Amino acid sequence: MMRTHRCGDLRAEHAGENVTLCGWVDTRRDHGGVTFADLRDTAGLVQVVFNPDESMDAHAAAQGLRNEFCVRIEGEVRRRPAGTVNEKIPTGEVEVTASSVHVFSSADTPPFQVGEHQEVDENLRLKYRYLDLRRPSMQANLRLRHAIIGAIRRFFDAEGFVEIETPMLTRATPEGARDYLVPARLHPGAFYALPQSPQLFKQLFMVAGMDRYYQIVRCFRDEDLRADRQPDFTQLDLEMSFVEVEDVLDVTERMFKSVWADVLGVGLPDFPRIPYRESMERFGSDKPDLRFGMELIELSDTFAATEVRVFRSVLDAGGAVKAIVLPQGSELGRKDLDALVDEAKSLGAGGLVWASVTGEGLKSPLDKFFTGDERSGLVETTRAREGDLILIVADPRRSIVHKALGALRVRLAQRHDLIPRTERSDPDHWKFAWIVDFPWFEWNDEHEGWVPIHHPFTGVVEETLDHLDSDKEKVLSKSYDIVLNGWELASGSIRIHDGEMQSRMFDALGISRDEASEKFGFLLEAFRYGPPPHGGIAPGIDRIVALAAGEENIREVIAFPKTQSAYDPLTAAPAPVNDDQLKALHIKVVTPPKPAGGG
Ligand code: AMO
Repeated sequence: MMRTHRCGDLRAEHAGENVTLCGWVDTRRDHGGVTFADLRDTAGLVQVVFNPDESMDAHAAAQGLRNEFCVRIEGEVRRRPAGTVNEKIPTGEVEVTASSVHVFSSADTPPFQVGEHQEVDENLRLKYRYLDLRRPSMQANLRLRHAIIGAIRRFFDAEGFVEIETPMLTRATPEGARDYLVPARLHPGAFYALPQSPQLFKQLFMVAGMDRYYQIVRCFRDEDLRADRQPDFTQLDLEMSFVEVEDVLDVTERMFKSVWADVLGVGLPDFPRIPYRESMERFGSDKPDLRFGMELIELSDTFAATEVRVFRSVLDAGGAVKAIVLPQGSELGRKDLDALVDEAKSLGAGGLVWASVTGEGLKSPLDKFFTGDERSGLVETTRAREGDLILIVADPRRSIVHKALGALRVRLAQRHDLIPRTERSDPDHWKFAWIVDFPWFEWNDEHEGWVPIHHPFTGVVEETLDHLDSDKEKVLSKSYDIVLNGWELASGSIRIHDGEMQSRMFDALGISRDEASEKFGFLLEAFRYGPPPHGGIAPGIDRIVALAAGEENIREVIAFPKTQSAYDPLTAAPAPVNDDQLKALHIKVVTPPKPAGGG
């Protein structure tokens, strides 16, 4: 055995024991002839003392140690002298007096300090990810990821689910992002697509009679990256046969409760259910952050008889006038308010009207246009108090009002520190909710047509099918999302398993029989052989772990993530390939590749 203990495991009870430790030099410092070093391994840090009075050799060897050298140290565990106990680390009551030092390998001066709380450039962190991952917080995140995935597997095992893998080299899947393509050498001119999700395969498992499937699976999507998006990411994908919406909600909610109890020791309350429309009206979003209020308030009644031009024209056009209240926001100066107006415009709103509630009444750029009733109505309806700031958006399209106010609600709450700072051990920290009753269709400006909010295999609420030709927005789907603290964690649905119904939905989407059969023919054909009623869901593992770890970006819980521009500074991927490779793949690059990278 190379070592007897792990550095981070030593405690007062080990005092008097001779130990052998292996790890990395975290820091080294000299104090009046005695040298100290913190030795780090995966379990944590412990202080090592090199005292020439105890061992001349060890003390001499310590003089050559530098940060990140990989070493083995033998010595005796001792209680630290009174007054030198470090309460910040679990090993803080002890130190190890070294009797010998063996250097496994030296280290160049690291490009950044491996210690915690160092501001390091993102590109540099990812280029030297193996050093970045030496940091205890990153190790803790990867361990948490492992623990969560372990708890998920235990749960599904006990529920009789079977984990089955699906192909990575496959055809385009219908999740709506761009595909990553892989040229097929044996089929000149043809390409595999990396799966955006195992959606179609899991439905085929149901046709195959597998009944209860799940998989911790890698998915690939070529889309704009954000804090909660990576080009390759991991889903907990699951599907069940002979189920209705309630069954999928039940098993998924129990899974989250069991993982939170197992891994975080938190008992979660039942998840509230919020219909999509209500979520949009109250929070301007289908992934509402429920940790704070600031809900959107309808002002159409308050301004029903208004002569204020911006509101009149919007209301006459059947649009919406709504507001949010920023507590104590009247402290904002003119410059901040102008910036808020610009921000609302950048979110698609035509403008933003502000009104602050002061001791002398309402102050607003529209001051002289408001009637007395409108002033009092505004304060009453919004329940704004003295010092608060009312922010109003009016637009002929209700969706624009929701989008702008929904985004401002979240940004202002973050900027003004209005989100309660609860501990992760507090059940109140976790505001899970189901969003249900989604419309089946949404209008897409880019395509100038109706597209499915989820995917074209999503089940339809039969009672709403009457609206299919007249009013597509009113057709509801059997789909559901889980949101947590403002993030969409999961999405799923009961699927269509009836060929005729599927054809109706393709027709409504303007997808021809030929196109449908070209894209999903294999699934439609499988559905001719006795498909069971089925449905499922797919929570994103990276998002679950990031939230559980208290991180704001999913790359903090992914071992080797990519930058905002989908680049990997560590391996320098993507990279050009040589002419022979291209030739074998029957591919000609017409635009010479620009050097990738640069963040
Ligand atoms: P959807 O496309 O909503 O549904 O994805 C489900 C969940 O996967 C996670 N996710 C991502 N995480 C990180 N980076 C990304 N680029 C990314 N894209 C998605 C999110 C999201 O909620 N097949 C359907 C599921 C189903 O109907 O069963 C699907 O993939 O957490």
